[in-house]
Amino acid sequence: MTETPKPMTARAAAGPLSGSVRVPGDKSMSHRALMLGALAVGETRIQGLLEGEDVLCTAAAMRALGAEVTRTGDGAWSVRGRGVGGLAEPDSVLDMGNSGTAARLLTGIIAGHPIFAVITGDASLRRRPMKRVTDPLAQCGAAFWTREGGRLPLAIRGARDPMPLDYTLPVASAQVKSAVLLAGLCAPGITRVVEPHATRDHTETMLRGFGATVEVDRRDDGGREIRLTGQPELTGRPVTVPADPSSAAFPAVAALIVPGSSVTLEGVGMNPLRAGLYTTLMEMGADIEIRAQRDEAGEPVADLTVSSSPLIGVDVPAERAPSMIDEFPVLAVAAACATGTTRMRGLAELRVKESDRLAAIAAGLDACGARLEIAGDDLLVHGTGAPPRGGATIATHMDHRIAMAFLVLGQVTAEPVTVDDGGFIDTSFPGFAELMRGLGATIEA
Ligand code: S3P
Repeated sequence: MTETPKPMTARAAAGPLSGSVRVPGDKSMSHRALMLGALAVGETRIQGLLEGEDVLCTAAAMRALGAEVTRTGDGAWSVRGRGVGGLAEPDSVLDMGNSGTAARLLTGIIAGHPIFAVITGDASLRRRPMKRVTDPLAQCGAAFWTREGGRLPLAIRGARDPMPLDYTLPVASAQVKSAVLLAGLCAPGITRVVEPHATRDHTETMLRGFGATVEVDRRDDGGREIRLTGQPELTGRPVTVPADPSSAAFPAVAALIVPGSSVTLEGVGMNPLRAGLYTTLMEMGADIEIRAQRDEAGEPVADLTVSSSPLIGVDVPAERAPSMIDEFPVLAVAAACATGTTRMRGLAELRVKESDRLAAIAAGLDACGARLEIAGDDLLVHGTGAPPRGGATIATHMDHRIAMAFLVLGQVTAEPVTVDDGGFIDTSFPGFAELMRGLGATIEA
């Protein structure tokens, strides 16, 4: 949500990175905790909520829809909900900032309520496709008006008597799955979603935690069928949000590539549908010790000790992409420092993230002197075993993860790496530069 670009520069770390840190709360779970809290009866107390700009947009939207949303301490929030079907019509436009998750999940929620609302976002979000949610949601009886190409701003007239949906996802997207399920909360009967590839299941898990009946069948082809029983009474409950594995990825890769480093990341969410990066890094030879595995709010959590390691190129199968979809920018950085070729398969969805990430990664790595190619939807990075030279200014295109990935790369390049705008880092990882500096990284604002 920055107006004035905030360039940031990374220089080679003066020595090994070390320390033990907890990165901020999981972004996906934070959005969902606020949304389900607003749809529940009674109070939901949230601990460890990510207080990044994306999630603050969701908090403001749930308030505008009539829920009582209060910050009670650091990462501690209380939501008093209105019950399923009980949200009020907002009296102004809902601005979801940079967040696709917030915009798409909210579209699902509003589609099931007999209210009118308009959703917009920043220039990055206004470029992203919304038809993937409005197409299925129109079947439940909601009406939508968008700009050309299904782009925001989006006006919604929610369904008065929503119909349950039966929808097979054409792309692996937890956002689309979640939008359909959230609309299904207000419909009578069973809402059924089939996903050809399993995607993050926080919506299903959290819905169950709030009292909904959600059945999941795993299919032999790796997909899933999800059935939600409509019109449940959701009941407010405590939610503890684990540290975000997608944010932990940045200090983890920094620790791997800066020689002699050892960094512990505390309380990281280890949901198997989110942990694909860590599997891949271990295949590349990364020394990652997974300790103190436990359960928090129905999600597996662990402490990770990551020590610098020589990395080798690997082939990352397309089926794994959904479980690490946000981690490809930083994996590409690790791959650029590895020996041999890393082939990352099936990255079409990266083209519609906060930026066209495939193009942004390729342009940035190329500017830093790395060798790579794009073949169809695959990205191939040819590592030489030594880091690329750096010495470039990276166009981040309003994308927090492009900014963080290249600031990590700059910890090992001979010449500094500048990102043209680090302001968007606050959408998902407030305090990133300070946390990295605390570990020994060199990042200048
Ligand atoms: C998210 C799903 C993913 C991911 C995004 C968060 C979610 O998007 O990239 O950062 O919380 O459901 P898609 O569903 O579009 O793949």
